[in-house]
Amino acid sequence: MSQSLPKPKTPSGGFRRIAIIGAGYVGLPTAALLSHFGHSVIVAERDQRKLDILRDGRSPIFEKDLEEYLRAGVSAKKLTFSDSAAEAVKDAEFVFLCVPTPQGDDGSADLSYIVAAAQEIGPHLIQDAIVVNKSTVPVGTAHLVERETGRDDIRVVSNPEFLREGTALADSLAPDRIVVGADDQEAAAAVAALFSPTHAPVVVTDATTAETIKYASNAFLATKLSFINAIAGLAEAVGADVKDIVLGLGYDKRIGFEFLKPGPGWGGSCLPKDTSALVKIGEDHGYDFALLRGAIASNEAQLERIVDKVLAAVDGKIAGAAVAVWGLTFKAGTDDRRASPALDICQRLVAKGAKVTAFDPEVPPANAGADDLRGITLATDSYEAVRDAQVVVLLTEWAEFRWLDFSKVADLMQSRVIVDARNHLDPAPLKRLGFSYQGVGRT
Ligand code: UDX
Repeated sequence: MSQSLPKPKTPSGGFRRIAIIGAGYVGLPTAALLSHFGHSVIVAERDQRKLDILRDGRSPIFEKDLEEYLRAGVSAKKLTFSDSAAEAVKDAEFVFLCVPTPQGDDGSADLSYIVAAAQEIGPHLIQDAIVVNKSTVPVGTAHLVERETGRDDIRVVSNPEFLREGTALADSLAPDRIVVGADDQEAAAAVAALFSPTHAPVVVTDATTAETIKYASNAFLATKLSFINAIAGLAEAVGADVKDIVLGLGYDKRIGFEFLKPGPGWGGSCLPKDTSALVKIGEDHGYDFALLRGAIASNEAQLERIVDKVLAAVDGKIAGAAVAVWGLTFKAGTDDRRASPALDICQRLVAKGAKVTAFDPEVPPANAGADDLRGITLATDSYEAVRDAQVVVLLTEWAEFRWLDFSKVADLMQSRVIVDARNHLDPAPLKRLGFSYQGVGRT
């Protein structure tokens, strides 16, 4: 397997000693990448379950290629794990903070994990250590981290991550750009040098600007998605086909094809939280980010539009209706259900009295009973999900849904009705099988 790994390259500035605090969706790919480049990396993680899995040579999260890279790092003696952040940083020249920044009650980012980590590592950092903020954090957090460590000899650098779940390793190996921001430009350059084997363009700036770049990127992507979802709604109203509209738009290099697929609404652990946080940052500084508020409201409307399609599919008689769902994760290629539009839509249907049976390849029935799955019955496969269903709703674009035996699906269902919230299926053969097919923005 490891034959498929690209050969490690030597970074400019030589190999360094690096600690990573937090073994999550950001910390682990970062650790895998930096150890792959030859640095000595130690990952600190408090969750004993995660640590046991990592020490067993496995990945606690589903992320393409991650397990191979972690194993390669461990067997090259470049990667180790610890249950103590204080222990992990005691020798490190660079300390990457990769802890969660969940959404607080008022929409702002909750910095309690960052603050706790900074306070914990402060007394144990070596002289002149560089602390790197990888977590997405509000403007001004670099200075907060500096204060919370209680150290005036260290330097804090903002180095936001732009990796997508599901393709985190590929994104890290070939990033579009590296952004580093700090008051101390020498420290910023030292962090940039860690990533030099990627040959990506480097934007060196101050910490506040780097922090703003991260939010601006996610806000732009979210707005682009809300735009195309709105165009899909318009296409339905006027009788146009959004698939062809996307072609017509995407060939314009100024627009491009990326992030132009209409869907059930955007979700995941970043876009919803970061857009809300940016609106709040604006408010706190006296700026009304009306455009972004509009994109968020438009996303909410998109979720409701999909619910309306399901309601229409059962002639408005949703109470007691048997609704099958394909896909629960926030997108394909991940096991992450945080802020998943699919789950949101399921919960709206459950609240209206629908009997929802769902299948997702990364959410097996062993997950039944989880808080976010309340009211949803989990099926073992796509076919079991649709048995006796009045409608099936495709919410996550897993490839396997495309290659199902749809005549078998037709036989199992009570009524042949498909709502395809990702425009993932080919409607023509479905229609030949007698399905009523509803996509998004498709004539
Ligand atoms: C995002 C950013 O892309 C990444 O740069 C950042 O560092 C973290 O946040 P991620 O959360 O992994 O990454 O999800 P992403 O691939 O951006 O998708 C976000 C949402 O948009 C998903 O719900 C996805 O299904 C949806 N989406 C994406 C679409 O509906 N259509 C598209 O064309 C692309």
